[in-house]
Amino acid sequence: RIAYVNGRYVRHADAAVHVLDRGFVFADAVYEVCQVQQGYIVDLSRHLDRLDRSLAEIRIRPPMPRAALIGILRQVLRRNLVTNGLVYLQVTRGVAKRDHVFPSPEVRPTLVVTAKSLTPVVNAARYASGVRAATVADNRWGRVDIKTVGLLPNVLARQQAKEAGAQEAIFVDAEGNVTEGGATNLWIVDRAGTLVTRPADHGILNGITRTTLMDVAAALGLAVEERRFSVAEMLEAREVFVTGATTICLPVVSIDGHTIANGHPGMTAQKIREAFFAVAE
Ligand code: PDD
Repeated sequence: RIAYVNGRYVRHADAAVHVLDRGFVFADAVYEVCQVQQGYIVDLSRHLDRLDRSLAEIRIRPPMPRAALIGILRQVLRRNLVTNGLVYLQVTRGVAKRDHVFPSPEVRPTLVVTAKSLTPVVNAARYASGVRAATVADNRWGRVDIKTVGLLPNVLARQQAKEAGAQEAIFVDAEGNVTEGGATNLWIVDRAGTLVTRPADHGILNGITRTTLMDVAAALGLAVEERRFSVAEMLEAREVFVTGATTICLPVVSIDGHTIANGHPGMTAQKIREAFFAVAE
């Protein structure tokens, strides 16, 4: 395997950043994960728009113009012979002596790009059976709309979920409302049959899959409502599913041991998944 690190294509096993890289020292970095389908990077423009936004929010300058970055993403896919899988990119504030304040503007941001093949990207069995989830208190900082690599709460949440026998964590805020999954956005089909997800404020990551799913829902004539909902409402929902670049649209069939609906994946999640790649760009 081959990775891109700061201007070089290197063997994946040798790919490394400096011990003083601010991504390593402070998690002073942002990232994107994109799904690759039939050689195409799914929703690439939306991912790069969000990357630009994340960089601007934490005031890291873009490491290069967009066209050059796209060239590197494609090179990494090509050199790894990835047709279906994931491409990962991370931009850090660069290497500088350890000091919390920003380094001088001459310090260049670090750019790392990696890719891996997955065939299929998501195991069909997971779609067919759905997954179990566990709720976890959302004690993250107030700007999780920025896609930073500061993912310790997500790491701990998913580990907690795993130890509870579940495959995804569901974050719950101090009011008892659902925010999102550990690495996904969360949706319900409510008792009225409406697709509901939390509004994209500073309390969730505004997922690219989430955005595209709104287009998919519109194409299918499904009503979507962005509003807050409680854990109690989620447990009584007709369907629950999570969305993200790694899973697209994955049904959740049990939460904290409580069975959702009849315990089987619902039709809405399946319809959305089937229509997804026709709508995504
Ligand atoms: N995670 N919410 C969180 C906390 C996430 O980490 C992610 C994505 C999403 C979904 O966003 P998108 O649809 O743009 O993938 C929501 C990536 C895939 C990850 O960290 O692996």
